[in-house]
Amino acid sequence: MNTNPTLADSTPCLISPTVSTVRAQGQPLKLGIMASGSGSNFEAVADAIASQQLNAEIQVLIYNNPGIKAVARAERWGVPAVLLNHRDYKRREDLDTAIVEVFRQYKVEWVVMAGWMRLVTPVLINAFPDRIINIHPSLLPSFKGVKAVEQAIEAGVKIAGCTVHLVRIEVDSGPILLQAAVPVLPDDRPETLHARIQVQEHRILPQAIALVQRGRSL
Ligand code: GAR
Repeated sequence: MNTNPTLADSTPCLISPTVSTVRAQGQPLKLGIMASGSGSNFEAVADAIASQQLNAEIQVLIYNNPGIKAVARAERWGVPAVLLNHRDYKRREDLDTAIVEVFRQYKVEWVVMAGWMRLVTPVLINAFPDRIINIHPSLLPSFKGVKAVEQAIEAGVKIAGCTVHLVRIEVDSGPILLQAAVPVLPDDRPETLHARIQVQEHRILPQAIALVQRGRSL
């Protein structure tokens, strides 16, 4: 039972490091986004750009599952969406080769995996060295891989969260850029905890992009 009714309402969270919004001078960062599902993180990045919290442009969205919500979001923002269905490729490397081609065609500088649910290979990682970021719904290095939120509930942790990190070959393992922590409430189900985590994802993903942009323009 939730003995502290105010906890659920106020949804406390801790974000570290704190990142101020990026200065707007300089060329906008050219982003390529990859999504497999709802695309709410894509939307958070698009929103941050529109409200000038982020000096970037989304050049293209690549998606792998036909009909996902992310595509409708891209259309609304006027972002080209390219379907690369993993089922059409024999090997992961072949899919990644196609991804790299599309990103090159759209002159992408930084890649954002915003809910991309496929393993990536050195073909993609080496094409954008230290320029691929991923968002994952756990406080890494805990709960890597699939069903991270379910894993957190199963483990009985009291604090969960999300992580934005640079992508390395080993899954969910690269250098951490930003994390946000949220409480796990006693009656949480995976959906309720994931919803609380996603509120923070939508904050830290644009902030992490702002962080790398700041690094680039130093
Ligand atoms: C997000 O919660 C993201 O952290 C997770 O998929 C969701 C996508 O949501 N990513 C992973 O689990 C990657 N291992 P969205 O489509 O609404 O942005």
